[in-house]
Amino acid sequence: MKRPILTIAIVATTFFSQAQKKTIDQRVDSVLKLMTLEEKAGQMNQYNGPWAATGPLTNDDKLIDQIKEGKVGSMLNATGAVRTRDLQQLALQSRLKIPLLFGQDVVHGYRTIFPIPLAEAASWNLEAMERSARIAAIEASAAGVHWTFAPMVDISRDPRWGRVMEGAGEDPFLGSLIAKARVKGFQGKGFGNTDAVMACAKHFAAYGAAIGGRDYNSVDMSLRQLWETYLPPFKAAAEAGAATFMNSFNDLNGIPATGNGYLQREILKGKWNFKGFVVSDWGSVGEMINHGFVKDNKEAAMSAANAGSDMDMESRAYIQNLPQLVKEGKVKLTVVDDAVRRILKKKFEMGLFDDPFKYSSEEREKQQWNNADHLKAERDMAKKSIVLLKNDRQTLPISKQTKTIALIGPFIKAKSDNLGFWSYDWPDDSARIVSVWDGVKSKVGTDTKMLYAKGCNINDTSTAGFAEAIEMAKQADVIVMNVGEARDMSGEAKSKSSIRLPGVQEDLIKAMQATGKPVVVMINAGRPLIFNWVADNVPAILYTWWLGTEAGNAIADVLFGDYNPSAKLPMTFPLTEGQIPIYYNYYNTGRPATSDSDRFYRSAYIDLSLYPKYAFGHGLSYTSFSYSDITLSNSTIKSTEKLIAKMTLTNAGNFDGEETVQLYIRDLFGSVVRPVKELKGFQKVFLKKGESKEVMFTLTVDDLRFYNDKLQYIYEPGDFKLFIGGSSDKTKEAGFKLVK
Ligand code: BGC
Repeated sequence: MKRPILTIAIVATTFFSQAQKKTIDQRVDSVLKLMTLEEKAGQMNQYNGPWAATGPLTNDDKLIDQIKEGKVGSMLNATGAVRTRDLQQLALQSRLKIPLLFGQDVVHGYRTIFPIPLAEAASWNLEAMERSARIAAIEASAAGVHWTFAPMVDISRDPRWGRVMEGAGEDPFLGSLIAKARVKGFQGKGFGNTDAVMACAKHFAAYGAAIGGRDYNSVDMSLRQLWETYLPPFKAAAEAGAATFMNSFNDLNGIPATGNGYLQREILKGKWNFKGFVVSDWGSVGEMINHGFVKDNKEAAMSAANAGSDMDMESRAYIQNLPQLVKEGKVKLTVVDDAVRRILKKKFEMGLFDDPFKYSSEEREKQQWNNADHLKAERDMAKKSIVLLKNDRQTLPISKQTKTIALIGPFIKAKSDNLGFWSYDWPDDSARIVSVWDGVKSKVGTDTKMLYAKGCNINDTSTAGFAEAIEMAKQADVIVMNVGEARDMSGEAKSKSSIRLPGVQEDLIKAMQATGKPVVVMINAGRPLIFNWVADNVPAILYTWWLGTEAGNAIADVLFGDYNPSAKLPMTFPLTEGQIPIYYNYYNTGRPATSDSDRFYRSAYIDLSLYPKYAFGHGLSYTSFSYSDITLSNSTIKSTEKLIAKMTLTNAGNFDGEETVQLYIRDLFGSVVRPVKELKGFQKVFLKKGESKEVMFTLTVDDLRFYNDKLQYIYEPGDFKLFIGGSSDKTKEAGFKLVK
């Protein structure tokens, strides 16, 4: 097995060895010169491995021949050192021996599954998120993956949209910082290092604003809104050096993103000077026919290529039509050359021309297969992602000396449901994934009795298991419940009109609460859910998302107080679906209300509160933090000056703990209206109980900029408010003026 691989590698290396001392651009050009038009179209063509799919497959039984003929530039869902090496060998049988790029949705971990991205975003911990992406890259690259289709940086204000689980929530400022951290994490010390994978910022653009939260739906919004809310994380990803972008399924103001020259050519490759390449989403080139934007696959190829979409994922539109389109003058050769250059450049930067098998190392793959440090990091990330929504009467943490604990609910012994959407099933998962039951068991002593009842299934109407659950609960000192969504209830094509707890789970909680015992409810989900009865009646609630391989251990750390929760919601939790879209950074309108009794005056519903159930930025701790008033360095600043805002944070409770101090501003009047609050900074501050610390933020005019109606990114002199607090709805405030 080893010999032929080596021989081919040597041939490939020799082939390009005369180009070795040249710059990468020169090397790219020297390859490009040798290529036929068909081979160029081949580089722009991406196929799925025949064994896994995340979209409808186009049948192609000549895949192997096509690779050998140089008609495939990249493959997705091809992982594993052996498999990728075998495929790469086929590519090296092609005339020019151009290596394949292997892409994969490594969204929140590969072998070690980390919390879903929305959960990680709740940590507001950029270093931890960067490390999580780093570990995903180390594991994936060891299995031959060159390129992850992540981070997903779509802002979304609609929890009905199933893909909110994949992003960083609703805020462009937080979303931008997280986008940067994740790109840095995936790409590590840079391409050419065997543990770096290329990142892919997706889905460009505005996919998260699909009308009604229905996946793949149209998006219609002003360009100002696009620039203000939806583009910033993409810009941040480009600035952080993301190697690639993926366009998206939706149309934006009537033009499908895949055929959208304004997005891909004018903004991304023009204004932002992006030097990487753009891949289409799965089949999105061909789907422009369904959109009613093009007549057939040939027109689709023309539209997408001309608009700046460099690689066609699974539409077969480029490979079948680009050579002819160039001959007919409908796509310029320069357009094709530019796309191929961008793709080849990444292959060179990744070192694939020098060693096409660089990432396909069985030895490295084995080393990373059971990496204890990675599991430790995942446990750490998972506990940092758990949000304490409510904790009346100090129900939590639970004492490790508790005599009897009843663990109730359909997720207590769950394994793969802890992984969430966009994760992998490995054969030994049942031994590896830590359930809540396992986690609690290894936390408590032998004197603690653990009782279990499932109570009900995730999503059916049977209450047959309630009696057993009540029986267990009656014997316990505390009831710990784990309810929520199964791993496939949020994710791609998982939009929902009702985002309540599925099945009879809420009834099970009511039955547990009726026992009069203290109840702790933990909610697993890939999106904000609505659970008002629980929120209003049960004393303690932890939002446990989908936390990954070490879920049960991380949960036990929090339940028993070995870790004091510090996460904050990265998305507003609505009171009912009727409030959606609901988000903290809305415009004031001409008829604002200050309370629910004003509701007839404001553009609100007459049958619904103005307020969400839980605000953006909300999240409690076992301790309590008090915020002093804010002092500003000056009440007036010039555009060349800095503003320093200070306040003292005190840990006034009985536990050591970490607070996420959030800073918001409001521009009180401007040439375009401004949101009532905009996040502009945050700090994570750890305080021992009783300790106080001065927290300081520095602002410049750059923090006060916005896009005006001409899409210029400007600041305007005027009056501002500045808010500091532990949640967007609980802040202290001060005012200042900006003068010229
Ligand atoms: C998704 C992308 C993903 C691609 C490849 C598509 O359906 O929208 O986010 O990267 O499939 O799996």
